Amino acid sequence: MEMSCLDTIDDAWLLIEDDRIADFGIQQAWASCGMQVDAEVDAGGGMLLPSWCDPHTHIVYAGSREAEFVDKIKGLSYEEIARRGGGILNSADLLHTFSEEQLYVQASERAWEMIRKGTGCIEIKSGYGLNTADELKMLRVIRRMKETLPVRIVSTFLGAHAVGRGYTMEKYVDTIVHEMIPEVGREHLADYIDVFCDTGFFSPSDTARILEAGAQWGMRPKIHADELASSGGVEVGVEHHALSVDHLERMTDAQIQVLLGSETMPTALPGTSFFLNMPFAPARKMIDAGLPVAVASDYNPGSTPSGDMKFVVSLACIKMRLLPEEAINAATQNAAYAMGLDADYGSITPGKVANFFITRPIPSVSFIPYSYTSPIIEKVFLNGREV
Ligand code: NIG
Ligand code: FE
Repeated sequence: MEMSCLDTIDDAWLLIEDDRIADFGIQQAWASCGMQVDAEVDAGGGMLLPSWCDPHTHIVYAGSREAEFVDKIKGLSYEEIARRGGGILNSADLLHTFSEEQLYVQASERAWEMIRKGTGCIEIKSGYGLNTADELKMLRVIRRMKETLPVRIVSTFLGAHAVGRGYTMEKYVDTIVHEMIPEVGREHLADYIDVFCDTGFFSPSDTARILEAGAQWGMRPKIHADELASSGGVEVGVEHHALSVDHLERMTDAQIQVLLGSETMPTALPGTSFFLNMPFAPARKMIDAGLPVAVASDYNPGSTPSGDMKFVVSLACIKMRLLPEEAINAATQNAAYAMGLDADYGSITPGKVANFFITRPIPSVSFIPYSYTSPIIEKVFLNGREV
């Protein structure tokens, strides 16, 4: 119910001290308090909103896969597409030939595109390495992005995205547990751990094994679940105190019951359903059952080549029947929770980091998802500074 509440104030002021929000209020009160400030920014009659938080992306990848997009339009099968250069394994082959520097340049370009579109926090996964050296290479690129970009980044180890070339399933899971996770843990390269738990990928029992190994290094799960089938991902995620379970296109009422009362945020990725012509996660049903919902872009080269969170908010309204207020809360506060950042990001609250954007003059909050392709952002602030 609380997801439909989005408090707004007309004629407002906002005070920033260093990189944090110090206070806010109505203009009249500001005029009469007489406080001296170092600099003033006129919002020009626009709206100020907390930056989007994007709690599920794969933006460290090599090149792009638009040939696969065309092949899908022509109706080619999954095997034919893979043979002609599509799929996760082909992204892994290409990533293998890229240096850290090349990956950093391409991924940073994607992050900057997201920043300009209003995103202030990004979760980034590994998962196109699929062998120990290349998974570590991806995570080092993410670490460098954390250190150099103004956007707040958290990293997730997704060695279990697909079985790497040359491994059997069993050998690959062993390698993840005995080799990859300890190395990632020792170098503190990941905040979270993810598994693509679905039919044809990793089973709930392999997922449990991987999550238990990750927990020993303090990595909390955020997992891919119920995208291709209702296959036990939600259950194994909740059992292992996952911060989020993501995708959920094929979840049923039983999984809604499992999530109720848990600490796990269901996270819908409506851009993926849009791009792949798949069912949308039952977000309306989840909210009506009393669950919170977050949304994310899933920005990746295969299923969602877009990190536009405003479009994700529009899809949440148009395709999942969320109210504009619910969709905006899903893309800010709840999304911040789904990446462990809700204490510092996701809302306009004194003490939180000053990450926000200012729009051109728009008539209402509902205009944001309604104007589903119009750019509305005039100014972006991250850590209290305009970028
Ligand atoms: O989140 N579902 C699994 N993985 C990605 C797609 C990866 C790809 O095709 O490169 C996803 O949609
Ligand atoms: Fe994903």
